[in-house]
Amino acid sequence: MKQIIITIDGPAASGKEKISKYISNKWKLKHLDSGILYRRLALIFLKDKINLKNKNQIKKKLNEIENLSFRKSKVIRNQEISKVASEIAVYSFVRIFINKLQFKFVKKNKNILGFVIDGRDIGSVVFKKADLKLYIEVNPEIRAKRRYKQLIDSGEKSIYQKILKDIKLRDIKDKTRKESPLVIPKGAHVINNNGSFLNTVKQIKSFITNIL
Ligand code: C5P
Repeated sequence: MKQIIITIDGPAASGKEKISKYISNKWKLKHLDSGILYRRLALIFLKDKINLKNKNQIKKKLNEIENLSFRKSKVIRNQEISKVASEIAVYSFVRIFINKLQFKFVKKNKNILGFVIDGRDIGSVVFKKADLKLYIEVNPEIRAKRRYKQLIDSGEKSIYQKILKDIKLRDIKDKTRKESPLVIPKGAHVINNNGSFLNTVKQIKSFITNIL
């Protein structure tokens, strides 16, 4: 049986993970978060004190790495890792390395019914022939408000204006980078996630039932 591939792209803090998890649980598809691979690589480079400006040093290190885990972990969720992950994500050879690992994982797990994969280039570059491509759109102000609430609820200090500024800067960086910039993938359905989650789910449901 053919494996189903659903791709979820969108800017930072647009709710890709929540939507992917929902789809994964409801339709029994495996969720892969491509950002985790960039973060795991960032952790290795930090531990091994790799000079991020030195392409040869990075390439040499990549040659030593056989695989990276998609497993979630708190260790890779901090600001330092986020920064390094987005620094290394600009290199085409790093992206090729990570994309290959994603193909390998999907190919190796033939027993899995299908995958829902989220990131910033999944429908546009990595799985161009996906069965369904979704692009999540949310105003920067709403994304900042949600992130702010998340941080405050978890007991962290936070300033709304700073979060909004960071989100806007990350958007510019993601959309204007030379390698695999964030775009609405060809053939993708744009999902408006400004409102309630219920409203978002309503927009998605029929697209998924149509391909299953
Ligand atoms: O999604 P997350 O914030 O975990 O991703 C970490 C970093 O990895 C992002 O800031 C982005 O620069 C990079 N990334 C990417 N392409 C993806 C997933 C993540 O460039 N498909």
